[in-house]
Amino acid sequence: MVLHWKDGYTTGVPELDEQHRGIFALVNELGELIERGIYDSAEVDGLLETMGADIQKHFTQEEGCMLRHDCPMAQKNKEEHEQLLGIYLDFLSAFGDRKALAGLAGFHLAAGGWLLEHICFVDIHLRSCLGKDSG
Ligand SMILES: [Fe+2]
Repeated sequence: MVLHWKDGYTTGVPELDEQHRGIFALVNELGELIERGIYDSAEVDGLLETMGADIQKHFTQEEGCMLRHDCPMAQKNKEEHEQLLGIYLDFLSAFGDRKALAGLAGFHLAAGGWLLEHICFVDIHLRSCLGKDSG
């Protein structure tokens, strides 16, 4: 799976869109390593760590943004974020023991699929809420 950015993914908040594009790039980077058969390496460990940190930072900012704009999807957004963090943490604890390529590929697919669906069905609702902000 290679993630390609589309204009339809835009939330209307440049900082959040930039973060989404950055997360796409990290997921794609992981996909490239998997393609090359690399899974048990410091490069993969570092990438997973960066993904985790960037995603958590992004989630916090996006959740705050939705609250500020009274977005009706704010609660669902937060719940889905928690779901992905759960997938990430579960994977990390299993990956630590097994270091299996199949496990990493499974995580890559799950994270990429989650991301596309989440942006399309939840995040883009921000677009229609931006006018409500009073500052
Ligand atoms: Fe989100």
